[in-house]
Amino acid sequence: MSTTTHVSRRTVLQGGAAGLAALALGALTPEQARATVEDGARAGVFGFGVASGDPTATSLLLWTRVTPVPGAVPGSGTGPGSRVDWEVAADAGFRRVVRRGTARTDASRDHTVKVVADGLTPYTRYWYRFRTRGATSPVGRTQTSPDEPGRTHALRLAFVSCSNYTGGYFTAYRGIAARDDLDAVLHLGDYLYEYGNAEDRYGPDSLAGTRDHQPPTEMVTLADYRLRHALYKTDPDLQAAHRQHPWITIFDDHEVTNDTYATGAENHQPQEGDFFVRRAAAYQAYLEWMPIREPGWQPAPHRGTQFFRRFSFGDLADLSVVETRQNRSQQVPTTVGGQVNPALADPARHLPEPEQLRWLTDGIRRSRKPWHLVGNQTVFARLFAVPRAGVVGGQVFNADQWDGYQADQATLLQAMAAGSTHPVVLTGDIHSSWANDLPLAPDAVGYLARRSSVGVEFVCPSVTSDGFKESLGGSAAAAVAATTAFQTTNPWIRYLEGIGHGFAVVDVTRERVQTDFWFIRSGGDKGLAVDPRTDPAAVVGFESAWQSVQGSRQVSGPVGQLGPRSDRPRGA
Ligand SMILES: [Fe+2]
Repeated sequence: MSTTTHVSRRTVLQGGAAGLAALALGALTPEQARATVEDGARAGVFGFGVASGDPTATSLLLWTRVTPVPGAVPGSGTGPGSRVDWEVAADAGFRRVVRRGTARTDASRDHTVKVVADGLTPYTRYWYRFRTRGATSPVGRTQTSPDEPGRTHALRLAFVSCSNYTGGYFTAYRGIAARDDLDAVLHLGDYLYEYGNAEDRYGPDSLAGTRDHQPPTEMVTLADYRLRHALYKTDPDLQAAHRQHPWITIFDDHEVTNDTYATGAENHQPQEGDFFVRRAAAYQAYLEWMPIREPGWQPAPHRGTQFFRRFSFGDLADLSVVETRQNRSQQVPTTVGGQVNPALADPARHLPEPEQLRWLTDGIRRSRKPWHLVGNQTVFARLFAVPRAGVVGGQVFNADQWDGYQADQATLLQAMAAGSTHPVVLTGDIHSSWANDLPLAPDAVGYLARRSSVGVEFVCPSVTSDGFKESLGGSAAAAVAATTAFQTTNPWIRYLEGIGHGFAVVDVTRERVQTDFWFIRSGGDKGLAVDPRTDPAAVVGFESAWQSVQGSRQVSGPVGQLGPRSDRPRGA
């Protein structure tokens, strides 16, 4: 998130002296600081847990990481290879094993294991585990997709983004892990952050020394990225959320470094080496450590490495997961010479590459299903800056969003308007909760007169990363004022909450799509007085729910909290 990150950077810089003082006083030695990941490795052969992902009707990707000898710490590049047995069962006690096999791994892939279990039954719950070197992994629970010809099943996904380890406890993941009503968890990016623990620390100062990044400096090398992924997978709440549900993941910028574009990044400096070498290391570690299938799983014209892919949910919906960092044109300023920057609308500038945009617009135009979900990173709706002295009329808020690539934005809006499916964009990045209409002509007067909305967008809050309140000096009143002003300037924003952290749940039926927002709370407080991110005993609570009725292409609500699913997967 460009703007908030820059604001937070200033906050970080202001807090930097305090942060450094904390390091000097209660500082961890480098040896102690490394211990978190080494403890994970020492916790046993399977100390980093298990995960599953990319569900289809009949197959699933299964993941784990093996520590063959205690010294084979993630990123070390050492340790012997292993043969790893895996099995999938129709019951938690493994009395009815339906698939099994053996995989090999070694130091060349940081001892991570990924296998595809296929030949499974649609819309069915399964359990899986791994075995090697006399050890058995924790048991993971997973599920094939509700994707069965001639049958309409329920669909319910959690969606999340922006989970910064140094930003707080992963209470949101604990809340997701506790749920028994999800088909999958959709992570929309910023699964991890690149920053270190010194002046670039990102998150509350009070957690310095308690939740520190490993490695302690900004991740740049392959060893750094591997170690950082391993640190995140030592978190018990994150491990639990992976263990309980299949995930569908896509990266945004921070999995490489802040505000990446095709040939560089805001947070990549020449002294950090070649950007393409760094990005290749980041992608390699992501592919090793995340429960994601290999690139090109669904071959389509693309540039570079194909991460975008599509999921089918019976006759109810498709989910297109886009990747908008690898090929994007470099960000440009929102204004130049006191005017709106014409480069924002230059058709030669792109967010996804043209081949991917065509794949997306074709998928929407040709869909005969009631809903088309788009798993997306940065805000898609037009977002004008709030008018004030010194702000150019019509200035967009953030050129790192789709607003910075208005030709692509218009192309996608036109495809939505032309298609018969009802588009629902699911977005992360901006560390706050939104429900937006998507006007074809995004100007306030035209929107109010004609309500020319062609779809809707729901944006999830961050798991921990700084929201409006933290970015505005910790003032809840300032956060409320800012979000209210955004809605006045941009009337297609039907709901905006800028303080809460947590996750969202999207539920799809033939009649409507509903998104429930869940916030973490400390003693009943969502963050107005205290910061629940810093409370290891915080819990999750329902906050608000919004719908879009089939064919309306508009947000309606607020409505009541979701009830139970209309049907359940086999075996659940
Ligand atoms: Fe983020």
